Amino acid sequence: MCYAIPGKVEKIEDGTVVVDYFGEKRKAHNELAEISVGDYIYAQGGLVVNKISSAEAQSILAVWKETFFQLQEVDLKLSRLNLGNQDADQKLLEVLDKASQSQKLSTEELLYLLDLKDKKKVELLFKTANFLRQKYFKNSCCVHGIIEISNYCRRSCQYCGIASYNQELKRYRMTKDEILQAAKEAIQIHGFKSLVLQSGEDCGYSIDELADIIKQIKEKTPALILISFGEIGIEGLEKLYQAGARGLLLRFESSNPVLYKKIHPGMDLTSRLDHLRKAYEMGYLILTGGLVGLPGQSKEDILNDIFLSKEQHAQMFSFGPFIPHPHTPLAKEDPVAAQEIIKVLAVARIIDNTHAKILVTTALETLNQEALRGGLLAGANSLMLNVTPLDYRMLYSIYPDRAHQSEGSIEQIESTVALLRSLGRAPTDLEAF
Ligand code: 5AD
Repeated sequence: MCYAIPGKVEKIEDGTVVVDYFGEKRKAHNELAEISVGDYIYAQGGLVVNKISSAEAQSILAVWKETFFQLQEVDLKLSRLNLGNQDADQKLLEVLDKASQSQKLSTEELLYLLDLKDKKKVELLFKTANFLRQKYFKNSCCVHGIIEISNYCRRSCQYCGIASYNQELKRYRMTKDEILQAAKEAIQIHGFKSLVLQSGEDCGYSIDELADIIKQIKEKTPALILISFGEIGIEGLEKLYQAGARGLLLRFESSNPVLYKKIHPGMDLTSRLDHLRKAYEMGYLILTGGLVGLPGQSKEDILNDIFLSKEQHAQMFSFGPFIPHPHTPLAKEDPVAAQEIIKVLAVARIIDNTHAKILVTTALETLNQEALRGGLLAGANSLMLNVTPLDYRMLYSIYPDRAHQSEGSIEQIESTVALLRSLGRAPTDLEAF
């Protein structure tokens, strides 16, 4: 299984390498000392992850060579856009035409898109976002693995099933050896080049212990390591960066400070944004976003959430539905429809054509099995597969009945790769040049 294609280093300029992938050139930031022109490397998120032997690279590339171009063709066909031939509403066509030419839409126009209800109109919005995704990112789709290392949490977020107040939940904390073993399986056996380590806040490990785990993973099995342990403090961020973490997954959840305070007792939006800003300054790749469908959240709030993600230099937008959990104060709130979330992904793609990858979350898949496909056809180009050991996965119950809760990693990987192929997507992470 392979979630990245090795590329050949063509040029080295300071900390940047130019890499060739079947004739396409990409740039990646390089921190490894031993890279020379002519080497084959894997890159993820715009960072060189590791070098492989020429023989190994040649054999992988031989398998990919034909498929690579076939997939691009399928994707190109599926993402064609023809706004000229539609008998749709004039305003919609005008707005989407502007969007398809990467012109900036006004707030009023973006809200109009978020508000669309008619199925045909919504479909045209999705097609426009898919067109833009293809135009700027081609058919690459990045696939991360995620290991949920502990469900202990000191916070009392009003929507979250692993919040500290939930006494019904059995808590777990994977041992260091279990984490290293799960990471090794994900990277060495399943072929992930990018791995998220996630937990509730205050997972029971000290920062030094987490740093040691990250160091050991990086030494034994190189990969892009992203952390998602909540607000660990600026010093914590620094230590984990030094240990080798290069991405931070931390949603701000809501850009509306009043709503933020309501659903996060004792917390403050400014502290969250401070973490994100400092992490960006340290060099972390930023993955952020919010919950969609929270009680009291307006369309303007959601639009502001997208703007705020962009302001935070998000390399990846992570927007997913709020799903009511029975053991939380928000248990009785209404769930949101999958289509509303896909609309957010599409509008996010229109707002950020070129920079951000857009994630289809497991929460969205939980609402609707078809939503992964739907999201990928509406501007999204990233996903995360859960490789937490099954016994623990059930207990990471942030919301109920999570998709893939009891599905083995191999089945999950195989069905995802099959879906990606049917859509002409290559499970790779090639950054735009
Ligand atoms: N519904 C959807 N997503 C949730 N999360 C926590 N609780 C829920 C819920 N009830 C999300 C938060 C957090 C991520 C790890 O899980 O947005 O950032």
